[in-house]
Amino acid sequence: MKFFVDTADTDEIRDLANTGLVDGVTTNPSLVAKSGRKFLDVVEEICTIVDGPISAEVTATDYETMLKEGQKLAALAPNIAVKVPLTANGLKTCKALSDAGTMVNVTLCFSPGQAILAAKAGAAFISPFVGRLDDISTDGMHLIADICQIYSNYESFETEVLVASIRNPMHLIEAARMGAGVATLPPSVLRQLYKHPLTEAGLEAFLSDWKGTGQSILDD
Ligand code: G3P
Repeated sequence: MKFFVDTADTDEIRDLANTGLVDGVTTNPSLVAKSGRKFLDVVEEICTIVDGPISAEVTATDYETMLKEGQKLAALAPNIAVKVPLTANGLKTCKALSDAGTMVNVTLCFSPGQAILAAKAGAAFISPFVGRLDDISTDGMHLIADICQIYSNYESFETEVLVASIRNPMHLIEAARMGAGVATLPPSVLRQLYKHPLTEAGLEAFLSDWKGTGQSILDD
C-alpha cells in the first residue's frame, strides 16, 4: 500500500519524508491556499522533496483551459500527477493528458459510476473522498469497497484507488483491508498510526528494567 501525504506544507512533507514511509503527495486548491505560498513554487518544491507522484490540481472548469493548465503543471516535473475534478470537462482533460502520457489523478469522486468513468478516461488515480461522505451520514468506506470490487472485474482498468479525505486511522486500516492501492493521509493521521498505549507502556517497562542492569550496549 502506498502512503501519500495530503498537505502543501513543505515542512510537514520534509519531516514525514524522512521516515522513509512517504510514496507521494497530494495537494488541492484549499491546501495550497492554506500554505499562503505561490502555487507553482510550492509544487516545484514538493517535487524536489518526494520522488513519487505529486498531485497538483487544475483550477479551470472549461476543457481548453484545463488542458493548458494541466500541460503546464505536467511540465514542472516528471513526477507530477495532474489533478482534475470528476466533471465531463475534467474527464475529457484526463483522457487527453493520459493519452499524452501524463499521470492524472481524478478527484472529488463520490460514486462508483464516477469511478468507472475515470478508469475509462485513463486516470492513473481515482480519489474517492471518504470523510466527506461520512460527514453527511453516508458510508464512505462502502464506496471504496465498491470501487475496488468493480475495478477488479476489468483488467483494462489500470486506475489505482487513492483513498482520500481520510479523517482517522480506521479509514486507512479499512482501506488496506479492502486492498486499496493508495491512501493519502493528513500528517496528523499518519502520525496517529504509530501510537498505541501498550507500546508506550511496554517500552517504558523495558527501559526501566534495562536501566536497573547498569549496562550500556555501546559501552560494553
Ligand atoms: O486532498 C483531497 C482530500 O484528501 C481532501 O480531504 O479532509 O478536505 O475532505 P478533506
